[in-house]
Amino acid sequence: MAYQPPSPPGFLASLPFDRRLAGHDVRASIAWARALARADVLTTDEERTIVGGLETIAQELESGAFPFRPELEDIHFNIERRLIEGIGPLGGKLHTGRSRNDQIATDTRLYVKDVIRQALEGARAYRAALIRQAEATIDVIMPAYTHLQRAQPVLLAHHLMAYVEMAERDAGRLGDALARADVMPLGSAALTGTAYAIDRDALAADLGFADVSRNSMDAVADRDYIIEFLSAAALMMAHLSRLAEEVILWSSEEFGFARVGADYASGSSIMPQKRNPDIAELVRGKTGRAIGNLVALLTTVKALPLAYNRDLQEDKEPLFDAADTLLDSIEMMTGMVSTLAFRPEAMRAAAEGGYILATELADYLATRGVPFREAHGITRGLVEAAMRDGRELRGLTLDDYRRASPHFGPDALQITLESAIARRDIVGGTAPGRVRDAIADARRRLESDTR
Ligand code: ARG
Repeated sequence: MAYQPPSPPGFLASLPFDRRLAGHDVRASIAWARALARADVLTTDEERTIVGGLETIAQELESGAFPFRPELEDIHFNIERRLIEGIGPLGGKLHTGRSRNDQIATDTRLYVKDVIRQALEGARAYRAALIRQAEATIDVIMPAYTHLQRAQPVLLAHHLMAYVEMAERDAGRLGDALARADVMPLGSAALTGTAYAIDRDALAADLGFADVSRNSMDAVADRDYIIEFLSAAALMMAHLSRLAEEVILWSSEEFGFARVGADYASGSSIMPQKRNPDIAELVRGKTGRAIGNLVALLTTVKALPLAYNRDLQEDKEPLFDAADTLLDSIEMMTGMVSTLAFRPEAMRAAAEGGYILATELADYLATRGVPFREAHGITRGLVEAAMRDGRELRGLTLDDYRRASPHFGPDALQITLESAIARRDIVGGTAPGRVRDAIADARRRLESDTR
């Protein structure tokens, strides 16, 4: 068959994706009808009829009876046509003084504000789940890693609380994005501002916007508010993927540090012994699309001249995809974190084995006046000798220590995981008291943070 180019109407259409904005579009249109009436462009009767017609459409959308027609290109034309079908030619007055350009900018801002509020709510639940696990595992000791090599002992709670810090910053970024999205473009019309005496402040109050845009050309061309959300979403996904990766490692047989709840794992179709951490893997994998969405929209707006260009229609699919991905991933991670069953014995055994207390030995010498660089060399020699003999540090005798340095006394044998952790008694450190305080502070911030 000969090549059939896509028909122009199909290529132009945004309805397949912007139909999601139907509710926001109706809301903005109702507010616009009221603003037109306040400006004496519509009579009170006309306003009542138009608002009534739009409310009927809202019900149709709610019940699923609204007839979406892709041949009408986008959601704005679909709703306008339906209004005219419902109330007659008067419906054609609704579009007085506005443009699809300020309409779509308004709809997407309303949408972004809703999504960010949901993401913030999700982030709160996620933080609460991490905090609960930290509280429940406050006594558990594990190895902390650098380069994925066992480095020093740490409280599991301290490790978990690191993710609370990330989530708090993520919430902060989402909150910042929300504040800048909370500006109303409506009244900018196509690009130079509406020619009707619209009270934009009253209109903004009606739609729940904190402010009105100051420049009509910027207002219809600006997609920063979406990019900021995509950026905050990509970074939050990156953080979720880091915890997802740890959960995947921890739940492997090699680590054996944790088991994910049955609802967050899948069996294998051929290997009956397996409990695969699929949910964590999907969160890790979906982070790629979140980052891709950010790059896609940045690339779309790059070098676009003012003001509206049809390129900007390409903002919606990345936005919707990122919103779905982020909200779902936060929810999945919250559930997964809540159902994680840790294995304190396995974590402790991993921390006890090997040479994890070597830094403690170097510190021991340093506190007895040996310059740290030298102490480091002495301890390194001890560790290497022990490794050569196939012994762990705890297998060394006082004689072994003394041969390495006369500064070692019998108390060097008293160095334990607990003592190493207890010495990190500083703001931000892993000493149990500090971690308890950090948990209490995080809980307080969570409860006082009303965003
Ligand atoms: N569907 C369009 C979009 O999403 C709405 C704005 C269209 N404006 C225009 N001048 N063609 O961007």
